[in-house]
Parts: sequence; C-alpha cells; structure tokens
Amino acid sequence: MAVLPIIVAPDKRLKTKCKSVDSVDENIVQLMADMLETMYLAPGIGLAAPQIGVTKRIIVVDTAGKDEDPQPYKMVNPELLGVSEETWIHEEGCLSLPEHYADVERPERIAVRYLDETGTRKELEADGLLATCIQHEMDHLDGLLFVDHISALKRNMILRKLTKSKKLDLANAAE
Ligand code: NI
Repeated sequence: MAVLPIIVAPDKRLKTKCKSVDSVDENIVQLMADMLETMYLAPGIGLAAPQIGVTKRIIVVDTAGKDEDPQPYKMVNPELLGVSEETWIHEEGCLSLPEHYADVERPERIAVRYLDETGTRKELEADGLLATCIQHEMDHLDGLLFVDHISALKRNMILRKLTKSKKLDLANAAE
C-alpha cells in the first residue's frame, strides 16, 4: 500500500468532472486501498480520487468514531437514488482545504448506489455524518468543494488564503 500526496485547492484537478469507472479491476482495488490508507493517515473521514489526482468516480469514507471499529466504505461510480427533504447542517472540512471549516446544509438522509471493490452493485441508506460525508465526497467527483455551498465572500476568502500559503511554500522551497 502507499500513501499518496493530497492536492490542495485551488487546483484545476479539483474542478474536473470525473469519469465513470468501466470495470473494477486490480488497479482500482489497489487505488482504493491506497486512498483509504492516505485518508486514515491525514487523518480524514473521506477522500475522493480527484484529491490524489485521479479523475475517476471513486470515493472512500469511514466516519466511525475513535472508540469504534473501523467502518470503511469503498465506492465506485456512486449515484444518489434519493435524498430526504429534511436537511442537516454540519461544519465541514476537507483535506484539500486544510484548516478551513464552514457550516454546510445538505439533505439529512440519502440512498446511494455504487459498486464495491468486487464490482458488486450495492445500495446503502445513510443519515447524519455518514450521509454528509458521502455527499461531500461525491461532490468532488463533479468538481465541487464544500466552499461551493457557502457564500462567495467566505469562499473567496478561504481560496485567497490557500493561494497565499501555496505561494509562501513555493518561496520557501526555492530558498
Ligand atoms: Ni473534501
């Protein structure tokens, strides 16, 4: 397994609409194992393939608490089958927007269909944190970040700060 570098916004690769996976072959299985390892190490509760530069419709999530057994989901080509009218507001973060957080309102419950790592079609109903996390990761597959759900003012402030810290990193690396 391998830990992969995570892309930080703003970056064109995070604004890309990702392509469906044709078949869940051994490369995809390996990629999902690497994504999960990368996510746990970060640490995070979800990771989408474009965040490691792979523009394919793949996400991994695990929202189990610290004292609970791991509950990883590896999802290929996830699709929402339905969402609740009731919404839930949660303070979201993202490994591609390090150290920035904002309240995002999303449907509280979802039903999602996906292929698992054996290529078997699965359906899952989720609510609360798991539902939020899956929706957040699925957004990445359409080039959307959580900041696309908040005011333009707050979004631009966060993106400006990230751009600035990237330039500082580059300047430090050049010295
Ligand atoms: Ni994210």
